[in-house]
Amino acid sequence: MSTRVYDCLSKISEKIIENKDFLTDLDREIGDADHGVNMARGFQAVVEKVSPDDTDLGAVLKKCGMTLLSTVGGASGPLYGTAYMEAGKVLAGKTELSAEDMKAVLEAAIAGIQKRGKAVKGEKTMLDALIPAYDAYSEKIAAGEDIVAGLDAACAAANEGVEFTKTISATKGRASYLGERSIGHQDPGATSATMTLETIRDFLKG
Ligand SMILES: Nc1ncnc2c1ncn2[C@@H]1O[C@H](COP(=O)(O)OP(=O)(O)OP(=O)(O)O)[C@@H](O)[C@H]1O
Ligand SMILES: [Mg+2]
Repeated sequence: MSTRVYDCLSKISEKIIENKDFLTDLDREIGDADHGVNMARGFQAVVEKVSPDDTDLGAVLKKCGMTLLSTVGGASGPLYGTAYMEAGKVLAGKTELSAEDMKAVLEAAIAGIQKRGKAVKGEKTMLDALIPAYDAYSEKIAAGEDIVAGLDAACAAANEGVEFTKTISATKGRASYLGERSIGHQDPGATSATMTLETIRDFLKG
């Protein structure tokens, strides 16, 4: 699993780098055209810093979070950095990921983002993808479904969350300067968060 977590982070990195221009273009509409550039720089650094030989899932995610914190910048660097570091705390000492672990990871990541960014659902941020994803995931797991079925539901909910961000105005972050003019545009952070979940789901599906 330790090699697998490195492989999974590599896939997330590839996905973000592939979508660098797309994410930046979304941020051009309602921000400062740097989200894709910021995230691609951060995930390039992550694959350089994390080693396939790192054994502890928690330690790998902590290293990932610290790297994102110091390389991504903007609003999303501290937010994603905190999310990965909080997820790392949940997985400290573990080498396998259970369905319950994944639920705890999502919960901790969301709590970290909220503690740092003080946003709630409905403010046109990454939380509009992540909170519905967590709810959908939890419901599936409670019904006895496995991690991949849970993540399928989470990804569907996250994509709906991205669509929802088009219908609301931003009240947090740089996009909030636009007020109602941000309506009609999807949130870049909600989009990158959804890409991350989809990559984890696809990775675990094999
Ligand atoms: N308080 C917040 N809570 C959660 N997510 C947020 C918050 N503020 C911004 N975001 C997310 O960050 C994304 C923007 O990230 P980006 O990397 O472009 O940083 P930025 O807004 O350009 O930062 P800065 O304004 O500091 O330069 C938004 O699309 C949104 O999803
Ligand atoms: Mg930006």
